[in-house]
Amino acid sequence: MTQKQRMLSGMRPTGRLHLGHQRVIAYWAELSEIYESFHFTADWHAITTQFDDTGNLRDNKREIVIDWLSAGLDPEKCHIFHQSDIKEHAELHLLFSMITPLSWLERVPTYKGQVAAFAETGKDIATYGFLGYPLLMAADILMYRPVGVPVGQDQLPHVEFCRELARRFHHLYNVEIFPEPAPIFSQIEILPGTDNRKMSKSYNNYINLSDSAEVVKEKVWGMVTDPARIRKTDPGHPEVCAVYAYHGFYNKDAQQQICANCIKGSIGCGECKKMLTDRINVFLDPIREKRAYYENNPEVLDEIVDEGNKAARKVACETMEMVRDAMKI
Ligand code: TRP
Ligand code: SF4
Repeated sequence: MTQKQRMLSGMRPTGRLHLGHQRVIAYWAELSEIYESFHFTADWHAITTQFDDTGNLRDNKREIVIDWLSAGLDPEKCHIFHQSDIKEHAELHLLFSMITPLSWLERVPTYKGQVAAFAETGKDIATYGFLGYPLLMAADILMYRPVGVPVGQDQLPHVEFCRELARRFHHLYNVEIFPEPAPIFSQIEILPGTDNRKMSKSYNNYINLSDSAEVVKEKVWGMVTDPARIRKTDPGHPEVCAVYAYHGFYNKDAQQQICANCIKGSIGCGECKKMLTDRINVFLDPIREKRAYYENNPEVLDEIVDEGNKAARKVACETMEMVRDAMKI
């Protein structure tokens, strides 16, 4: 059997995952059929912006792994590990820092904007660590010599940075260690937030995978509908309604009928929301079950991460030997 090519992805453990993330994770799970897949919690990266508030970090790392597993990652088909468990990332980051022109980091498109945005909230993230965020990310990626990295559009400059760094390393030390990783974009349709804007923590418009049935009900009840509709008999405009958009994701078969009834004014928004609540809860039930399983069996969770760490460390050690050799260390 030929060895599968590798793929790697990471997420900063900053809190519970929501329905939008579930779609990304389901896509990762699909990719793990094709690639040998590594998924890690980027816990050091989480510190770059939250160095003054690390109290929840351990909980968050654990929770994000539970979210991944309950939302569809199959531990038999991928490796799950924590960035900070593989110290080689720190070594590679340090060695890369020796060859990275400062100007490359300063001109990463997100850098200045984010520092300014944080400054407005009274927080100074003009730190060494935050400037080096893309460099640590490049070390994370290149360590596993993956052919692809599934990332959102927002991470594209970081992947490009990583590719440039690989070229510079090869050029300086006259080696070919790292395949240039390609960004893997998913074709998945993006789930909007409950207010029809982008689903985001900062807008408080999300439904978490770990929300109870009761919380889902409340959140759906608060969803934005067609503002022109006051009475049930008012003709509705489903295209502006978040509830309608969600039916397209969680109640596909009935969506057309709902559309017709909304336009005719023969279905009330309350009824429409109740149907959606039920569908989302049916969707979340198996996810909740898996979550409960891992919460009740912490040793299973630990074993999964142990296995992931071992697999990751093996590749990382091989890479570091090649890197040290190339640099004559
Ligand atoms: N920067 C990524 C994010 O915020 C997280 C991340 C860190 C990552 N290292 C990575 C993603 C390596 C992919 C590969 O989403
Ligand atoms: Fe939206 Fe449904 Fe109300 Fe129409 S009936 S506006 S689709 S919630």
